[in-house]
Amino acid sequence: MSLVRRKFDTLIIGAGGGGLRAALQLSQADAKVAVVSKVFPTRSHTVAAQGGVNAALANVLPDNWHWHMFDTIKGSDYLGDQDAIEYMCRAASRIVYELEHYGVPFSRLENGRIYQRAFGGQSRDFGGEQAARTCAAADRTGHAILHSLYQQNIRAKTHFFDEYFAIDLLRDAQGNVLGALVMEIETGEPMLIEAKATLIATGGVGQLFRTNTNALINTGDGLGMALRAGVPLQDMEFFQFHPTGIAGKGMLISEAVRGEGGYLVNSEGERFMERYAPKVKDLASRDVVSRAIAIEVREGRGCGPERDYVLLKVDHLGDEVVTKRLPGIRDLSMTFLHVDPAREPMPVYPTAHYTMGGIPTNRFGQVVVPERHGPEEAVPGLYAVGECACVSVHGANRLGGNSLLDILVFGRAAANHIIEFLAENRYHRGLDESCVEAALDHLARWDLRGDGESVDGLRAELKRTMEAHCGVFRDEAILSEGVQQVAALAERLKDARLRDHSKIFNTARVEALELENLMGCAQATIRCAQARQESRGAHSRVDYPERDDQHWLKHSLYFQDGRLDYKPVRMKPMTVDPFPPKPRVY
Ligand code: FUM
Repeated sequence: MSLVRRKFDTLIIGAGGGGLRAALQLSQADAKVAVVSKVFPTRSHTVAAQGGVNAALANVLPDNWHWHMFDTIKGSDYLGDQDAIEYMCRAASRIVYELEHYGVPFSRLENGRIYQRAFGGQSRDFGGEQAARTCAAADRTGHAILHSLYQQNIRAKTHFFDEYFAIDLLRDAQGNVLGALVMEIETGEPMLIEAKATLIATGGVGQLFRTNTNALINTGDGLGMALRAGVPLQDMEFFQFHPTGIAGKGMLISEAVRGEGGYLVNSEGERFMERYAPKVKDLASRDVVSRAIAIEVREGRGCGPERDYVLLKVDHLGDEVVTKRLPGIRDLSMTFLHVDPAREPMPVYPTAHYTMGGIPTNRFGQVVVPERHGPEEAVPGLYAVGECACVSVHGANRLGGNSLLDILVFGRAAANHIIEFLAENRYHRGLDESCVEAALDHLARWDLRGDGESVDGLRAELKRTMEAHCGVFRDEAILSEGVQQVAALAERLKDARLRDHSKIFNTARVEALELENLMGCAQATIRCAQARQESRGAHSRVDYPERDDQHWLKHSLYFQDGRLDYKPVRMKPMTVDPFPPKPRVY
């Protein structure tokens, strides 16, 4: 059967907020845009973002983009690139007003302005009193944004390929990226999409860990594709554990709960965050709160029969606050815990939440790769935005409310750069058929049926291994054992087979392809974690408890062949003075 081929100006892989914001900008500029998504677009993981999007609107308390910039750099434990952070914080207010015009139903203050709540790590005046910077649509902000962006894209005539899975990028011998091979999930038919520019916006890789807040679709597909196309992954050792997942299950209980005045207690009824972050208490940054909870449990002050969680209290806030500001949390808590948070506290424990690392980009969304012993260069025609990218605005620890901002700001920035790229590259380059063959061979590998390792079994083992060996606290012994175990799982994956031919639906093939992507991400994450001999942000080494700026103020890079490399942090902002590293206390 001949291969179906389609041509577009731009191919966007992923239909979350980053992909849709970019698609909208491009479609409105009359570019011919294809969005490929393995799920219906409004089921993309942006839909699950609860608490809100940060912008220094100053609707509730005085605020300023420069204070937001300082907080983001401090939150990143000084690993964030300061030019990109300045760009993001400056753009934030405009981005939120654009959303308002797209129809996002933000919650409102009495005076009609957008409601803003306090989130962790936010301050006024460069580390002073608590700020309130997170613009919210109750506790379903991502849902509201994703639906508005999708509707705007329909209006702008963006072309959607729903329930198509991207297999591999097409990269020619000169290094140009010219589109991707994708597969229609329902039929299993491959299709070639040729594009002058390709944007990866596939989200993070929370499915690396057994207990996580992520959708099942978050398997690092864009990261796996990038690795196979010769692009390294950056800073993968920095994985955020959200402090308040539903204990034992992992679903997200938004930081908005603490922003509205909720707080954590241990089995002694003690408000223990007062000991770990005397000034801001429960609104310290996420890495600090997650570690505090893990320590409370480890030292025997956990709650419940197994003493393996702490309690999050909101019952003192009253019905009205819970119903108006936290309706989704109440639903989640009633469904999964059978607890009404307006009456009783919720059992919580840290849960894997957010991939700070990813595909290295500059602030225009261009994917940048270091030449061996030379400067960084953009990969022609390749862009990445959102959680799959590392621009890097989050460094070693992301602040709550900055992920929705990241996808919107850099979705728009990448699209603007692509518009310029398209003006300079008006015609499709000829496609090198050998890269098409390679992608088709990759897909055909999963036609192999019969006895062998089961994909499901390997995936479950990988997730358990990552949770046990690359969690909130790490040390050399536990990491090196984990590195060996992940390497062994990667070897076993080579012998994996899909089972009985007659019963296989294409989703089994998708799960196998996803596992390959997960495996690449797991190796990048645990290898970089073992190599980094310091504690910074979310990467907490018990054997190297201090941050070590002299040796480790640098980004890690992991290549598909297992090689590690490093590159400097961009410490120079665009227009203001740099914020030099300081001890990080909350
Ligand atoms: O806690 C939350 O609502 C999550 C927000 C975020 O990850 O930015």
